[in-house]
Amino acid sequence: MLLNLTVLPGDGIGPEVTAEAVRVLQAVAGKYSHQLQLTTQPIGGAALDATAGDHPDALPQETIAACLASSAVLLGAVGDPKFDANPPAQRPEAGLLRLRKALGAYANLRPAICFPSLAYASPLRAELVAGTDILIVRELLSGIYFGQPRHTEGQSPHRIAVDTMRYTEFEVERIARVAFDLARLRQKKLLSVDKANVLDSSRLWRSVVTRISADYPDVTLAHQYVDSCAMLLAAKPTQFDVILTENMFGDILSDLAGAVVGSLGLLASASIGGPVGLYEPVHGSAPDIAGKGIANPLGAILSAAMLLRHSFRLEAEAVAIESAVQQVLESGARTGDLAQPGEIARTTQQMGQQIAHAVTQR
Ligand code: IPM
Ligand code: MG
Repeated sequence: MLLNLTVLPGDGIGPEVTAEAVRVLQAVAGKYSHQLQLTTQPIGGAALDATAGDHPDALPQETIAACLASSAVLLGAVGDPKFDANPPAQRPEAGLLRLRKALGAYANLRPAICFPSLAYASPLRAELVAGTDILIVRELLSGIYFGQPRHTEGQSPHRIAVDTMRYTEFEVERIARVAFDLARLRQKKLLSVDKANVLDSSRLWRSVVTRISADYPDVTLAHQYVDSCAMLLAAKPTQFDVILTENMFGDILSDLAGAVVGSLGLLASASIGGPVGLYEPVHGSAPDIAGKGIANPLGAILSAAMLLRHSFRLEAEAVAIESAVQQVLESGARTGDLAQPGEIARTTQQMGQQIAHAVTQR
């Protein structure tokens, strides 16, 4: 099969971790006789630098065109503090939000799984996190990230800033169906998370999810307020199966879920629903550790597995990567974020090499 991918390394640790994901994809392609065809393009701060001058652009037209012409997109991370004072439209993050929109990627799947060999790495007690296997389904193209009006007006100290959390029934329905369909393939437990005691958009959310649930009588639906869900994620993470939630709540809860399972560096994601899927680790650009070779590449590598599964239906290949990750972790290899005091941490590259090797040996 032709694996025609656009790679967007982005900023900070993005290039380091995507290089390892590509290394692992090369190993998969070699072993399963696929042809890997890669096009690399800038996004985020890297794109702002590349287009500096009159029209700095965090998502240049060539980048969008390359993504739309490929079968899937693998992204590292965006964000660089040097652009913090830029106008909103010229921040690295704006490039990522526009890309998600351009790809129609409304469904963001963020699995948070506790690898048995890493239960000790959680800030929670190992016996409490062992067995955690959560899928967060985050709505990605609407809500407060995109709602209008949004602006800042007036002069300091009297400025007013407005963001709008807005949902249409259609937007809630389409993400709810994705979550119900995925719950059917798992434990058939769906928790819809909202703030319906305060927000109108959440009351709409809850009523639409409830209406859709009639089409899925085999799935058990429950509703939870987001504050209470955050508490339960830290207190009883094993009780969750699929969590369905809106854009910003999903952003927040997925970072929390990353900490619960040991490191945000482990979390992968798939953003699907449009013609071309986008795959990226949940972690950010981590500028403080960029270029040091200490970043955890597992989130990016596991995102490559999701890419093979969701964009190419290559289930065996996806499982090969996931099993290789599990095997390498069981062998004791860890990057610094997961190493215990006294353990020698592997570099980003060493982890990537070990996983690529484990894939070829399977
Ligand atoms: C994420 C990130 C992004 C988001 C940022 C970089 C725009 O935090 O993917 O979780 O908020 O969606
Ligand atoms: Mg986030």
